[in-house]
Amino acid sequence: MLAVMIRLALALTFLVSLPAIPAQVAPPQRRPDAPQLAPYVPTPQDVVDRMLALADVKKGELVVDLGCGDGRIVVTAAQKYGARGLGVDIDPQRIAEANANAKAAKVEHLVTFRLQDAMTTDVSSANVVTLYLLSASNLRLRPILTRQLKSGARIVAHTFSMGDWQPEKVDSFTDVGGRQRTLYLYKADGKVRQ
Ligand SMILES: C[S@@+](CC[C@H](N)C(=O)[O-])C[C@H]1O[C@@H](n2cnc3c(N)ncnc32)[C@H](O)[C@@H]1O
Repeated sequence: MLAVMIRLALALTFLVSLPAIPAQVAPPQRRPDAPQLAPYVPTPQDVVDRMLALADVKKGELVVDLGCGDGRIVVTAAQKYGARGLGVDIDPQRIAEANANAKAAKVEHLVTFRLQDAMTTDVSSANVVTLYLLSASNLRLRPILTRQLKSGARIVAHTFSMGDWQPEKVDSFTDVGGRQRTLYLYKADGKVRQ
């Protein structure tokens, strides 16, 4: 009996002396199967303001930025207009920055950021979709967006258009940094555009 108790005590002492194993939380990874629709180039703030004005964002509307980077478009829409927002990006660092920016701007209750492929994001509830992606990427998204969006939903594309789809408006201007910018406004009308 004594021998058993000694053995138990030794085993306990050994277990207690083991170093604590730190919890291994793997950082979220970029999905390897997601297409690279554009490199990260943030839209300057004055151009963000102009994109949202062109979209005529209203309080309570849902603004979705496909490839949201640091979340500035969605955060500004929430801060300035009281809009709700969803931003998706395939880069975990961008999503971390976007969440930090939403917190700093005190709009966390209005916006959500997800590590997600823009090509598989459901935009059916969006009132406004913003894009700063390459032309070929806009064209890949065009059938998806025009199939899902309700009539009247707006798309604002920065620099790159949506191919042969005629925009409602084109806004060309020089930004505060002295660069020429072009924004394209499209309106969903229930017609699917391949
Ligand atoms: C030109 S930046 C635009 C960032 C932001 N929308 C802005 O205007 O400041 C394009 C962003 O798209 C993201 N991206 C590229 N491919 C993507 C994909 N398949 N799904 C979601 N995001 C993607 C990149 O990581 C990058 O942050």
